[in-house]
Amino acid sequence: MSEKNVAKYRVPAKIDLPDRQWPGRELTSSPQWCSVDLRDGNQALPNPLGPDAKLEYFKLLCDIGFKNIEVAFPSASQDDFAFTRQLIEEGHIPDDVFIMGLTQCRPHLIERTLEAFAGIKRGIVHAYAATSDLHMKQVFHLSRQQTIEMVVKAVGQIRDLAAAQPDSDIRFEFSPEEYTDSDFEFVLEVCEAVFETWGKATADKPLIFNLPATVERRPPNHYADMIELFCRRFSQRDKILVSLHSHNDQGMAVAATELSLLAGADRVEGTLFGHGERTGNVDLVTMAGNMISRGIDTHLDFSDLDRIANTVQRLTGMDIYYRQPYSGEYVFTAFSGSHQDAIRKGMAQRDTAAEKFGTSWKVPYLHIDPADLGRKYEGLIRINSQSGKGGVAWVLEQDHGLAVPKEMHPQLGATVQKYSDEAGKELNSAEVMDIFEREFINPTGPYKLLNYWPRPDEKNPTNIHGEAWLEVRGEKTTLTADGNGPIDAFVHCIRQVDTTNFRLHDYHEQAVGKGADARAIAYVPLEFDDGQIVFGVGSDTNIDQAAIRAIIAGLNQRAKR
Ligand code: KIV
Ligand code: ZN
Repeated sequence: MSEKNVAKYRVPAKIDLPDRQWPGRELTSSPQWCSVDLRDGNQALPNPLGPDAKLEYFKLLCDIGFKNIEVAFPSASQDDFAFTRQLIEEGHIPDDVFIMGLTQCRPHLIERTLEAFAGIKRGIVHAYAATSDLHMKQVFHLSRQQTIEMVVKAVGQIRDLAAAQPDSDIRFEFSPEEYTDSDFEFVLEVCEAVFETWGKATADKPLIFNLPATVERRPPNHYADMIELFCRRFSQRDKILVSLHSHNDQGMAVAATELSLLAGADRVEGTLFGHGERTGNVDLVTMAGNMISRGIDTHLDFSDLDRIANTVQRLTGMDIYYRQPYSGEYVFTAFSGSHQDAIRKGMAQRDTAAEKFGTSWKVPYLHIDPADLGRKYEGLIRINSQSGKGGVAWVLEQDHGLAVPKEMHPQLGATVQKYSDEAGKELNSAEVMDIFEREFINPTGPYKLLNYWPRPDEKNPTNIHGEAWLEVRGEKTTLTADGNGPIDAFVHCIRQVDTTNFRLHDYHEQAVGKGADARAIAYVPLEFDDGQIVFGVGSDTNIDQAAIRAIIAGLNQRAKR
């Protein structure tokens, strides 16, 4: 960036609040939440939602637990008006949910908004007016005085029209648009005038002042300062809710919202996955995830986040970024070996976290339990050329039930890494299993086992007569030998044709599957004269046969080296 370009910009004036309290506070409870997906979110979609999609989205928001849902800008389009009417007339609004409709402070738009609210049980009329000098001078050509007059007139009209629906609980929200670019004393004056004009706010039915960081013009600490100042200076703090509405233009909407909650705000407006104008509104999934990770109950249900994400992606036609906190495909995934190793060990010992760290969840690289968001452990580790041996073993164990012994991990990791290097891409779980079968269970080589019969000696049952039917380098052959067990007898058979002089180390076995499908898996290390140890793996319904197959697999592997 050239000096000339940088000189175009100016730091927003600091907020004068030397005794600010928010930096010393902690978040201990959840704010109230308001979804603006169907208004701020929808108005910024390349293809706005149709009525069916909007209804499905609305129901999803209700299921998650939102009690305030901005559903439309009813006066802006016939679609928005009709949708508001549909929700009311068809009885889609749960009793404890307030739907909200946005309007500018203009008489005919207000009239239309209240018309859309006819017969509603509970609703919030949300009026906004830009209070920044920039907007007032460049866009609306209004003085500050004219803006106040316009707002006061609008609030009076809303108050009177709402009063004409005595059976409805109609509340009021006011947003000074571009709050963070507005002169604080002026906004305060506007908001005091709004409060006075509304005239009926109580602690039980508070007026909502939604103070937007419309274009995130300031850093999060400035926003927090402006919120703390508002909370301290507003005359009737106990009769209002201070609401946050941050956009993400500088990528700090979550930080700005969190700091401003410390500063005293009560409520947060935002969208699922950060949909919304330009870079979007604050992502409420991230906000909620952060709170869950600190032990705060948000009363929002994201326990099946994948389903919510899939629904929203389908309805909006917009993908969620791979690295979007909590909801992105890769956010609980480790590709690199050292992370995989740490996660694998941490997951294996996660039951000891409470005793060791005084908290029931503490796992390296996972600040929250993916299962709390309905996300699976299988995706925690994915395999590419950066992955380590432990990661490959994890995938085989999690997805295929194979308990590959630790001593075999280096050989396994190196083999799979060679494949992913060559492929130059991530290997999925099925591909990893395919490599395992090809390289460790059924490697091609000089030997093929056709059958093996071990029979105990009639007089001395500890002596086993082995008869092995093999194909050796394409030629069928039958070998017989005795041993002190079926495997020993087989080793004596194979030594008649194999010259490698291998030694058998202690081997591991496991059962996979249940009932008729149960199989034994044997992981057999063979040591050769040059010190090389090669693991062969055998799979069979019988454990001895599995071990014999593993020996053949190990010898075939060795023959390739
Ligand atoms: O970002 C904003 O300022 C708004 C207002 C209309 C609340 O969306
Ligand atoms: Zn907005």
